[in-house]
Amino acid sequence: MLALATTTTEPADVDADLLVLALGEAEFERGELLERTDARVGGVLRRAAGEERFRAKLGQTLVVHVRDVRAQRIALIGLGGAADPAGQGLRVAAGCAARVAAGVGAARVAFAWSAAAGGNDARACEVAAEGALLGGYRFDKYLTDERSRPPATTAFIVRPPSPVAADESERAFARARSTARAVARARDLVNEPAGMLTPTALADTASAWAREAGVSVEVFDRAGCAALGMGLYLAVAQGSTQEPRFVHLAWTPPGARRRVVIVGKGITFDSGGLSLKTNEGMLDMKTDMAGAAAVLAAAASAAEEKLPVELHALAACTENMPSGNAYKLGDVIRSLDGKTVEINNTDAEGRLTLADALSFGLRFKPDIVLDFATLTGACMVALGPNTAGVMSNSDDAAGEVLAAAQRAGEDMWRLPLPARLAEQLKSDVADFKNTGERWGGALTAGLFLQEFVRGVPWVHVDIAGPSSTSKEYGHVAKGGTGFAAAAILEFLRRAVD
Ligand code: BES
Ligand code: MN
Ligand code: ZN
Repeated sequence: MLALATTTTEPADVDADLLVLALGEAEFERGELLERTDARVGGVLRRAAGEERFRAKLGQTLVVHVRDVRAQRIALIGLGGAADPAGQGLRVAAGCAARVAAGVGAARVAFAWSAAAGGNDARACEVAAEGALLGGYRFDKYLTDERSRPPATTAFIVRPPSPVAADESERAFARARSTARAVARARDLVNEPAGMLTPTALADTASAWAREAGVSVEVFDRAGCAALGMGLYLAVAQGSTQEPRFVHLAWTPPGARRRVVIVGKGITFDSGGLSLKTNEGMLDMKTDMAGAAAVLAAAASAAEEKLPVELHALAACTENMPSGNAYKLGDVIRSLDGKTVEINNTDAEGRLTLADALSFGLRFKPDIVLDFATLTGACMVALGPNTAGVMSNSDDAAGEVLAAAQRAGEDMWRLPLPARLAEQLKSDVADFKNTGERWGGALTAGLFLQEFVRGVPWVHVDIAGPSSTSKEYGHVAKGGTGFAAAAILEFLRRAVD
């Protein structure tokens, strides 16, 4: 495990193998931290930066070999030039630092920044630590070659611009660990192949986390869900030979001041069903349970932090498969809350499973309901691969989620739920169809879900884009990103403020 510490020692004198200076663009131009350190190594940093065109862009990294100080190498890492009062760039830079450290085999890393660029408090230490912990994440359990070596870095020493009280930095590091644990757990689940992570395996893993965290667990199988009347969820599940698992984690601390239901889409593999996807479209569909991974992992961390919130985390886990048993186009299915749905595309399965999970969640009389789902390709067309779409029936609730995401360093953007578009979901033979027309596909999915929340404050977050990535970036490795786990935790920490 990576040890975290703070120090007040002059950066060049910290006992480390790699010294990292995180620099904002302005700081790089005329900053004191760089000059002070450069003076100790004979001006090699400025010279190298000039020759290598280092400009302190966010995440830009330059490693320089040095003599005359404790570390053999100094890395300059950019914090970028954008106004960043919350110090979000530190997370990205610290992630890059962890990656560089792993690459050069550095056991001890010192990470310094200036007040001007990165902030100067325990919160900045928390963000830096979170970046370092997540930047060291790797999914290497299936590598048998030399790439599966143990992590080289054992200590990450944070050097804020001025001293932070020990109890404050301890609390900051504890929060960083809790966040990073949730995110890494979510990443592990998303990265696991669908052949391994069946609905049963997903439920078993989440149950183990929950028991460890003192959370109560309830898991319904096919018969249990049928007895409850979860017609939509079971219609999706009926095409698969894998048993579905509906997971309910409940954290109910005495004196809880708010009741929150979080729902995650848990399709462990989305083939599209009879509306079969192409090979290309199916390649990454083991990640279609990223919403479930985020809510279940965040729930475990929330309980470990003993947050004073009543929390119900729900995931209707199943595969979406074509088979002789699969649900068909034209089928009319009854939902848990009694509404009927005509199926016109079996690849719009997520909203069906979520609708029943939302109805189940309403039984707890929540103050607010949040759902996280890799729901539509259309959301990626709208917002690109790194930004989640937020839809809500409440400006206040949406604002709370967006604020939490910003603090967590996760990109989310609000989209509308235009009532006029809901016309597309009208059916001649049932209360609704499960898909509308092509344009506005993220919104019709949101509008479909809205029909099942009965006016309770609700926020839907479409994470189809950011739940996995093909490019590494700062603290985020290729593959499953664990997106939303950090925002959910941040939301819950602030839910009673
Ligand atoms: N799981 C997919 C959405 C998705 C696509 C997630 C790409 C991540 C990357 C979802 O179940 C789906 O198939 N949605 C359809 C909806 C359509 C049939 C209305 C889509 O986006 O094409
Ligand atoms: Mn689908
Ligand atoms: Zn799907």
